[in-house]
Amino acid sequence: MLRIPFYKPSIGAEEINEVVDTLKSGWLTTGPKTKQFEREFADYLKHRHAIAVNSCTAALHLALEAIGLKAGQGVIVPTMTFAATAEVVRYFGARPILADCRAEDFNLDVADADRKVQSALAAGQSVAAIMPVHYGGQIGDVAGVRSLARRHNLKIVEDAAHCCPAYYKDNGKKAEDGRQKIEDSGQWSVVSGQWSADRGPISNLPSPISHLPSTINHQPSTINHATPYINPQPSTLNLLNNGWLPVGSPADISCYSFYANKTITTGEGGMACTANDEYADRMRIMSLHGISRDAWKRYTTEGSWYYEIIAPGFKYNMADIAAAIGLQQLRKAEVFHRRRIELAGQYRERLNEVEEIVLPQVRPDRIHSWHLYVIRLKLDRLNIDRAQFIEELTRRGVGTSVHWMPLHMHPYYGKTYGYAPEDLPMAWALYPEIITLPLYPNMTEGDVEYVCESIKDIVSRNRRWTAAKTSPHPFPFPQWGTGWPEVG
Ligand SMILES: Cc1ncc(COP(=O)(O)O)c(C=O)c1O
Repeated sequence: MLRIPFYKPSIGAEEINEVVDTLKSGWLTTGPKTKQFEREFADYLKHRHAIAVNSCTAALHLALEAIGLKAGQGVIVPTMTFAATAEVVRYFGARPILADCRAEDFNLDVADADRKVQSALAAGQSVAAIMPVHYGGQIGDVAGVRSLARRHNLKIVEDAAHCCPAYYKDNGKKAEDGRQKIEDSGQWSVVSGQWSADRGPISNLPSPISHLPSTINHQPSTINHATPYINPQPSTLNLLNNGWLPVGSPADISCYSFYANKTITTGEGGMACTANDEYADRMRIMSLHGISRDAWKRYTTEGSWYYEIIAPGFKYNMADIAAAIGLQQLRKAEVFHRRRIELAGQYRERLNEVEEIVLPQVRPDRIHSWHLYVIRLKLDRLNIDRAQFIEELTRRGVGTSVHWMPLHMHPYYGKTYGYAPEDLPMAWALYPEIITLPLYPNMTEGDVEYVCESIKDIVSRNRRWTAAKTSPHPFPFPQWGTGWPEVG
């Protein structure tokens, strides 16, 4: 029996060497590597400012502090998210107003968010912000969120924990004002690889990266440690030149996670990104005790011993040891992304025919990061429930997870705000159906095959033959695309 863990990080010799270099340098805490990681991350996803911190949760907290969230105010938060998105609202004594998700992609249902804003306002409550979460790495309804935010004067603090990188098209709109200009350096005009305009199988796509391996094959460390930093990476540039926008627009602040299982990792870590100079300054200061200048400069020759505390800040700064890992992970982000797209394609090919499950769909105007691969069980066609299905997978050595039990169904939010499970009906109905399958760059095609064969075996042993094939499923299964980026 094979063992396929739910997640394995892809750490190679480059990360190890960079950490050793950091240890030898004497800069263990925030220092030059953190600054470099901030610059390179900002460049990669086209943000004006990037502030590296020790988690995405910290980034979200700093973001809400920077926009001036006050006790008693409301913030729209999707119920289909991780604890962090709502808990940071509670840190201020503010109220997370939970909104439902849509069936297509589990992202925020903006129409429901609109209803929730209206009823909060009607009850005399002020609503300060909205926190869209791009579930699993597929960007949600950007235009809808922007329009809702404009109508009600809400700040947008985006939880992009899963999105390094993810892209979207927004009815031909260019990046919002203030977003870093996307430079066409011409440097890549000789790069032959282009994202395909065809919706063919991913394996037919030419590699967009000529100097890096197009697949990982358990050897991410084949990237030469000496490779100079080059950004934007060619496939990113091709996408950007062809009308795709990187995640982050039109948010006031976007927050990313580098937790161990994320698309790139620093072990623990996060980044808060913004085009707004004031927010950036405030987050930087508050990330380190409210000290009014970068503390690491205190110990350099250009720095001085003098600093001022302007507010009771937090201890959220990223250490150089973590940034060292992040720098090398960032250089592999394109390779990792490509591998994730390939693996998602392999899952689709192998599971497409299984009628008892619903595969994730990708809108034609989205490029998924494939942080998560979430399937839905058609429970009316199976004799077992989700917990038993997961148990069967575990018995076959396949690690899985569930993203997530909706927040309003957790005791704290249920009791504190009086939510009944059915109050957010879509999330409530979807929750018993979802299972997240293993997906990470170091998986082989054989690993995917094994997971798929295990699923097929479980389904064939537990098929509910009596279920009428015509019985409608309570929620629609959209037939979007398969996730191939289109150019032009
Ligand atoms: C949607 C979402 N937001 C925020 C976080 C928190 O990230 P971190 O662990 O870096 O604080 C996570 C972590 O998994 C997440 O999935």
